[in-house]
Amino acid sequence: MIITTCGNSLPIAKKLAQKLKVKYSPLTISSFPDGDIYLKYNTSLSNQTVVIVHSFQPHSDQSLFRIFFAAETAKDLGAKKVILVAPYLAYMRQDKRFHPGEAISSRIMAKMLNSCVDEIMTIDPHLHRYSSLQEIFTIKTRRITVNEILADYIHKHFQNEIIIGPDLESFQWAEDIAKRIKVHATVLKKVRFSSRHVEVKMVHPLEIRGKNVVIIDDIISTGHTIAEAAKQAKRMGAKTITAIGVHGLLIEGALTKLKKAGVNKVITTNCIEHPTNKIDVTSLLSKELQKER
Ligand code: R5P
Repeated sequence: MIITTCGNSLPIAKKLAQKLKVKYSPLTISSFPDGDIYLKYNTSLSNQTVVIVHSFQPHSDQSLFRIFFAAETAKDLGAKKVILVAPYLAYMRQDKRFHPGEAISSRIMAKMLNSCVDEIMTIDPHLHRYSSLQEIFTIKTRRITVNEILADYIHKHFQNEIIIGPDLESFQWAEDIAKRIKVHATVLKKVRFSSRHVEVKMVHPLEIRGKNVVIIDDIISTGHTIAEAAKQAKRMGAKTITAIGVHGLLIEGALTKLKKAGVNKVITTNCIEHPTNKIDVTSLLSKELQKER
């Protein structure tokens, strides 16, 4: 087995190679003067399982393109299997044509990956209108969840806490994590008016006064969703508010927005590299890759 990356998730790729005691071999990737991609493997791939560890953020378009080139080249150089380990899989939120003429990006992304990799492992992909990855992938997929390590983290670092899912879909994380650490959880109903304007309402109101509120979502992108939940928690008398995101994109001033809404701390996993990373997913990925050996 050989582990490589197309640029993102370098720390995870190196740690995985160490844990699994396999070779980490960096790719050379650059651009020709006209912008065309240049990509080169620096080790023999003949009869090897090549594991490309690469999160789709930052630069989701470039990531998809680089993965496509890296996987095709690996096959061309004699790799017997190509596994993509994508801690964050982009494009999953465009899972339907919301407006006439739109691309259903998740299906197009899956079609590209189906054609070039043999297997994909990813962490808590955004499954909203799809019930499983197999609805769009024909290759083998493994969906790994961080619930156990998030629950351990919360249990270790919080007291008198309550878990809130900021929208109905996030309850799959919030409820499961709350059950594991035996605390209460509730969910908010989100009405999205646009990609930058959402409002929320608590479905089953819980006593929040004096509690340490932990808001959990799969993705924190612009921060609007969690900011609205935080404002609600603050109005209801929360003592502290922490936002935990599996995938912290944290774009368009999300951190400032969250702070303004009353969030005391933002914590993310290293599925996407960011200064807020506190929870390492490497052990989850290494457990799955062990099964390949
Ligand atoms: C969408 O349903 C996701 O689960 C997140 O709630 C959403 O992507 C967060 O986006 P933002 O931070 O821009 O509100």
